[in-house]
Amino acid sequence: MIKITATGFYAPDKILTNADLEKMVDTTDEWIITRTGIKERRIASEDQATSDLCLEAARRTLQNGNFETKDIDLIIVATSTPDTLFPSTACWVQQGLEADHVAAFDISAGCTGFLYGMIVAEGLILNGIARRILLVGGELLTKITNWQDRSTCVLFGDAAGAVVLEESKDDSGMLSQYWRADGSLGNLLILPAGGTRMPASAQTVADKLHCLHMKGNEVFKHAVKRMGEAAVEALRKAGLKKEDVRWLIPHQANTRIIEATGKRVHLPPEKVYVNIQRYGNVSVASIPISLHELREDGKLKKGDIVLMDAFGAGFTWAAVVYRW
Ligand code: ACO
Repeated sequence: MIKITATGFYAPDKILTNADLEKMVDTTDEWIITRTGIKERRIASEDQATSDLCLEAARRTLQNGNFETKDIDLIIVATSTPDTLFPSTACWVQQGLEADHVAAFDISAGCTGFLYGMIVAEGLILNGIARRILLVGGELLTKITNWQDRSTCVLFGDAAGAVVLEESKDDSGMLSQYWRADGSLGNLLILPAGGTRMPASAQTVADKLHCLHMKGNEVFKHAVKRMGEAAVEALRKAGLKKEDVRWLIPHQANTRIIEATGKRVHLPPEKVYVNIQRYGNVSVASIPISLHELREDGKLKKGDIVLMDAFGAGFTWAAVVYRW
């Protein structure tokens, strides 16, 4: 079994409120809160790239766990907004940490990337390929946002969260995992241009095809269904019942999706962690930020069963059951 031995996160200081957005597009604070639960989000500065957010989250996490860079033997970054198509964002983070020659690679699994990363890390650690892994989920979505599209620009924020993972020496750690994907629905949530399918051109820039495109209400239906499925299946695999769960930590995309997932697992609202009101949808960063906040607030007690659950572009979805 693997366990989390450090947590941490970084969110930029600059806050964009719903009132600010009212001045930018045809929207209202009331619409955004009612439909999404979001009150404000953090925005990176012009000169920051995703690896800068990841690097700060990584440094804080290592410090929180009393680790030095030399204690880490692999860096995994989950992101859909890499600094560059290549090298990987993980390699930029490796450079920033001066983690000489430590292996580093990215995982691209939309908002599910952090849980995909935990599952990959489990396989590597239990097979003796890595000993202590720094897993970072970082996203700078506001640089791929179309600020004229009110249906998406109100949703996203920038942040990075991280954990250190290693083999557990006691009964705490990752009890089960469930992961799936369905590429046939990829076009419902996509950044169309800039890759080999549609290389960058003056036309793709003019058409804003380097921005995130999403059929929100379609994504919504799938997210509710798949997050419910993942939660139920991961619990079944762990041999646990809904009553055993102390915290559901869902990916924070929309409070209505979060509430629907809680209902699907029959959990009361007080067992469902929600912080979307402060950060918006920060994709892969939402679960590690939630873990850190719960831990810092003393709300995670030894033995607590934590159910982490996510859905994102791909489509991808996954859940992890964890004993704290
Ligand atoms: N302000 C005011 N009105 C708006 C806004 C806005 N910001 N955005 C859309 N509207 C309007 C629409 O134009 C539409 O108007 P119409 O009825 O006159 O046509 C109306 O509101 C309803 O639009 P819907 O898109 O049907 O609204 P919905 O209730 O579905 O909420 C939302 C939209 C918030 C995007 C929701 O669908 C959602 O959260 N979807 C899932 C997002 C998600 O989970 N993404 C996955 C992870 S993200 C990742 O992987 C990076």
